[in-house]
Amino acid sequence: MSVHQKEVRKVTTHVLQEMKRKGEKIAMLTAYDYTTARIVDAAGIDVILVGDSASNVMAGHETTLPVTLDQMIYHAQSVVRGVDRALIVVDLPFGSYQGNSKEALNSAIRIMKESGAHAVKLEGGREVKESIERILTAGIPVMGHLGLTPQSIYKFGTYTVRAREEEEAQRLVEDAQILEKSGCFAIVIEKVPAALAEQVAKSVEIPIIGIGAGGGVDGQVLVYHDMVGLTKEFSPRFLRRYLNLFDEIKGGVEHYIKDVKSRDFPNSSEQY
Ligand code: KIV
Repeated sequence: MSVHQKEVRKVTTHVLQEMKRKGEKIAMLTAYDYTTARIVDAAGIDVILVGDSASNVMAGHETTLPVTLDQMIYHAQSVVRGVDRALIVVDLPFGSYQGNSKEALNSAIRIMKESGAHAVKLEGGREVKESIERILTAGIPVMGHLGLTPQSIYKFGTYTVRAREEEEAQRLVEDAQILEKSGCFAIVIEKVPAALAEQVAKSVEIPIIGIGAGGGVDGQVLVYHDMVGLTKEFSPRFLRRYLNLFDEIKGGVEHYIKDVKSRDFPNSSEQY
């Protein structure tokens, strides 16, 4: 290491647990490619999720179901090459872990071996307990995902807020405890009432990362494309847009087209 290079303290699953103990909030964003990963890592993000939302925002599918394990590995490989500090978590895609813990283990091993990422995430509560425990036997850290679980969209029927009713809320609290006992190092909770998410965060020692789950949890995650305004159609109440990149980039492209058509670009200093 040269004298100019500062040693970075990499974010590990233990660092996240330490952050929860100290009451320090965890910031997490998605990334699916090298360039974005470099930007969010340079900005100091704690966790990068190579989410199966790649199916929506990268591939244009309506749901997260079509994205394949090979495609997730490709995205994860690109992200890993761009990151120095953040913990990189990769979603196990639909069909790669449900109902078969051996397949879950094989899918998780492929992700870790072929991409160099640090952990996997999967959706569901008690029904995926066996898969979580089997993945952990290989020493692979697992993040859970409760509340609105988009891979089950055809069961729910809508993307509305989950666990408003007492029975589902109680089940969610129990599932979080089951995931903690199974060995998950953190859990994403999506689109549930803020009071319930806070109750869950208080009832477990592992970090709870919320999306549409209020401020009483241990950290927040957003889809990068939504947060920087690259997507326009998706505007849920929980989303804060920090930029309006769709319009900015569109404006830049329109300007370029105009300059090409008018022969303004390239000018004499932009050629050899
Ligand atoms: O795939 C994804 O982007 C996610 C987040 C919404 C948490 O799972």
